[in-house]
Amino acid sequence: MYRTHTCGELRMADVGKDVTLSGWVQISRDMGGLTFVDLRDRYGITQLVFDMEANAALCETARKLGREFVVTASGKVNERSSKNPNRDTGDIEIIVDALEVLNAAKTPPFTIEEDTDGGDDIRMQYRYLDLRRGPLQKNIIFRSKLAIETRKYLDENGFIEVETPCLIKSTPEGARDFVVPSRMNPGQFYALPQSPQTFKQILMVAGYDKYFQIVKCFRDEDLRADRQPEFTQIDCEMAFVTRDQVLATFEGLTKHVFKTLKNIELADFPKMEYDEAMQRYGSDKPDVRFDMEFVEMNAFAQGKGFSVFDNSELVVGICAKGIADKYSNKDMKLLTEWMQRPQIGAKGLVYVKFMEDGSIKSTVGKFFDDETLRSWASHFGAEKGDVIFALSGEVDKTRKQLNELRLEMGTRLGLRDNTVFAPLWVINFPLLEWDEESERFHAMHHPFTAPKKVDEQKMLSGDHETLKNLKADAYDLVINGVEIGGGSIRIHDRELQSKNFDLLGFTKEEAEAQFGFLLGAFEYGAPPHGGIAFGFDRLCAVLNGVNSIRDFIAFPKNNQGRDMMIDAPSPVDNEQLDELNLALNLKENV
Ligand code: AMO
Repeated sequence: MYRTHTCGELRMADVGKDVTLSGWVQISRDMGGLTFVDLRDRYGITQLVFDMEANAALCETARKLGREFVVTASGKVNERSSKNPNRDTGDIEIIVDALEVLNAAKTPPFTIEEDTDGGDDIRMQYRYLDLRRGPLQKNIIFRSKLAIETRKYLDENGFIEVETPCLIKSTPEGARDFVVPSRMNPGQFYALPQSPQTFKQILMVAGYDKYFQIVKCFRDEDLRADRQPEFTQIDCEMAFVTRDQVLATFEGLTKHVFKTLKNIELADFPKMEYDEAMQRYGSDKPDVRFDMEFVEMNAFAQGKGFSVFDNSELVVGICAKGIADKYSNKDMKLLTEWMQRPQIGAKGLVYVKFMEDGSIKSTVGKFFDDETLRSWASHFGAEKGDVIFALSGEVDKTRKQLNELRLEMGTRLGLRDNTVFAPLWVINFPLLEWDEESERFHAMHHPFTAPKKVDEQKMLSGDHETLKNLKADAYDLVINGVEIGGGSIRIHDRELQSKNFDLLGFTKEEAEAQFGFLLGAFEYGAPPHGGIAFGFDRLCAVLNGVNSIRDFIAFPKNNQGRDMMIDAPSPVDNEQLDELNLALNLKENV
């Protein structure tokens, strides 16, 4: 028998028992007469003791154990003379009388401890070693529990889990597809699903009125801390529902997982219109853990001779509390440069410092006298010690830039406490987005999203300006500034869906070729339906107060989209390419 107990299990009540443990050697310490070995498995660490006097040969073997050797040890549980209060098993030790080395190990390239000394790449390459570390194990176990609690809740609410295929054809969710060549159909390709969107809608037509799936999705897009090329969704769809029923169901799911996994009771989630979110926070995923709301300044800051403001569509600012005296000119210069980086692209940054001694320091003192600037303070609720930051320019761009500054100042001022959770629904997104460059509309959510009922006629017959202002029955769940999920009520009528494809620039033939199956299904009794998908990896990360989803994925890709452990992607040999009818194409391209 390999083990009677795990390495995290034994306590004072077990003293005197004969036990057998198996695990990995964390460390072996030779103290002369005694050798101590910390034995680790996923449940914890137990100290093994080898006594030179009692068994010299055994002690010699123990001294030679290297890090990460796999061993089985048997012996008696003993009360420790010097206890370790930081460990669950810290009151006891095992006096070992038999030891078997099950497998030796090379010295690992980094230590398997809470805070490892391994760099990112090396940890990714040896992911199996990284996964042995406590913090990662905790994350992976948390992920498993989150999946189980999700399934429990959805099952209790009458949902059916249905698997949809991975080899499909393109589903437009706004990213590029990963494609898979078909050997049996030369020159033809499958696409990996960006989401199971069309399949879940087909399931509604089929009468499976409450569907869910914890499902892999694939998107070939630029990677960030909260984006992976393959990620997991909690994907759901419901028939015969209103928007508010969908929201109530998934607010319920969110509350359920917060309660069961974090013992946190969330209050009811507020709803905020998309337009309001953009106006107050410059973002459709506002972090509402802190205020620092936008104040639009056109009415009181324009027409005073400062041409930068006067020539701008929008002048808008925020008030950062308590930093006027702390931020030197140099700090302000650095902050301005930070705003001017290409990632943000602000032209400059106007500030007004209301110093503790009552004086005012400002970049726009030439254009606005102190009295005027004091009147600004009243619009912002600014007091002595506060700073007003202002930006101006084209509406969308300026809001986006100020959002970055707001988040940065929120972080600097410690206002983004990761033990506080502030969820909200953002609702009534625009249906279509006009892209100046390509001169066409894009779907803001996806092409299957329904317009608000009141906008349906306008969608069928409206002019360009009307179309720009159509609202969709679409919604996002946002927690702490992270888009956790998005969904919508769908179009279930063939004519309206065709019109939408038309607005999005699909010809009739293209729409038919790509989505004929869905349009066809709509002619055989499609019920009204709607749904949502949560980013499962993001939900894991947010529940644990972190940004990066990578540490919640057992085998993630790095920033170049590579799996460093298996070294993928990688070339395939010519024979395989030949079989797939690709060798010829490649040669032709060269
Ligand atoms: P959407 O594209 O908004 O909607 O995706 C839903 C949620 O999935 C997560 N997500 C990601 N997580 C990690 N890495 C990525 N690359 C990534 N992309 C998206 C986000 C996002 O909110 N079919 C629709 C849902 C619907 O309408 O029902 C869809 O996929 O948390």
